[in-house]
Amino acid sequence: MNLLQLGNGAFGETHLRAWRALGEAPWVFDPDPAARARAEAAGCRALEDWRPALAAAEAVTVLGPSDTHFALAQEVLTAGKPVFIEKPATATAAEAETLHRLAGGAVAMVGMYFRFHPRAIEAKRRIAAGTIGRIWALSGRFAGFKRARRDAGVLRNDAIHFLDLMRWLVGGMPSSVHAVLRDHSGRGLEDFALLTLTWENGPAAQLEVGLVQPGRWPDAVVPGAITDKRLTVTGSEGALEIDFAAEAMTAWRARHHLADAKPPELAREPVGAWPADPVAVVAAELAHFRDCVRARRAPESGLMDAGVDIMRLIEAAERSSALGQAVRP
Ligand SMILES: NC(=O)c1ccc[n+]([C@@H]2O[C@H](COP(=O)([O-])OP(=O)(O)OC[C@H]3O[C@@H](n4cnc5c(N)ncnc54)[C@H](O)[C@@H]3O)[C@@H](O)[C@H]2O)c1
Repeated sequence: MNLLQLGNGAFGETHLRAWRALGEAPWVFDPDPAARARAEAAGCRALEDWRPALAAAEAVTVLGPSDTHFALAQEVLTAGKPVFIEKPATATAAEAETLHRLAGGAVAMVGMYFRFHPRAIEAKRRIAAGTIGRIWALSGRFAGFKRARRDAGVLRNDAIHFLDLMRWLVGGMPSSVHAVLRDHSGRGLEDFALLTLTWENGPAAQLEVGLVQPGRWPDAVVPGAITDKRLTVTGSEGALEIDFAAEAMTAWRARHHLADAKPPELAREPVGAWPADPVAVVAAELAHFRDCVRARRAPESGLMDAGVDIMRLIEAAERSSALGQAVRP
């Protein structure tokens, strides 16, 4: 397929390795000559200007800093080409809505890495099969010492992953968001956030994100970072504990005796020892995108749910923190 990749920074290299594993060699544009040289070294053709190549491209992936995504994706969609936009798709829900309208029938996918992660897929399968019963609560920690990106704070860079995952696993939008955000350096971007979400007649969730507190594991995606990426989903008949950083997952069956003082009956099962190499996860995302482009079908993590809805949650967190109270997203 004639593919065009816009941006070849730190994550661009993972994308190129994933495309190469799928037998593809995209053309790569990046304004930085060093990034173009890395693309050439990966066996791809580097471009100093991408616009002349757009007409011949069958699909485009957008991997610039997140504040470039909207303008780049707008140009690609205006040309009628399918687009894959790394998360966060846009800076605001309104921008994501504009892109969604512009896409019309064209394939437009947001890169939501964890929806293609084998442990998250297994969790979704088990929840759908009813193995943990009704979901009661979710708890996530996506935090650890790492570089402060210049393009966005920890809501759009980090919380977005687990907000999307929680929304996807529960199967709908929370009805209320409460957040505490902190910007310890005063650079205008939050470096720490605590969030509480509730679903009407459904579960409650808590999420901690941040880059100023310690994690435990060398990050598989961000060089030099020491992070935790843990998610627990608790249900009426069991629980799923996923530790993406430690590459581990545990499924609990729990029979509670909540009305009396008897201890719960518990069974614990370690689940799947899949390797979850980031290149393989991104290859799964990109293979899905390519299939959708070929078949002209709507992708998993499209611009409505992984763009508009997620940005509405993030904007709700910002409003909540400013007001000091819970808000409806
Ligand atoms: N899904 C994930 O797990 C995951 C992981 C890492 C990064 N990301 C996302 O991927 C995107 C890129 O992240 P990164 O870590 O590679 O960033 P980066 O800052 O390392 O690289 C960005 C690259 O884009 C280039 N660039 C700047 N302006 C451009 C433009 N107008 N057109 C094309 N390229 C341009 C820069 O020269 C740079 O090489 C971000 O949105 C980030 O949030 C997602």
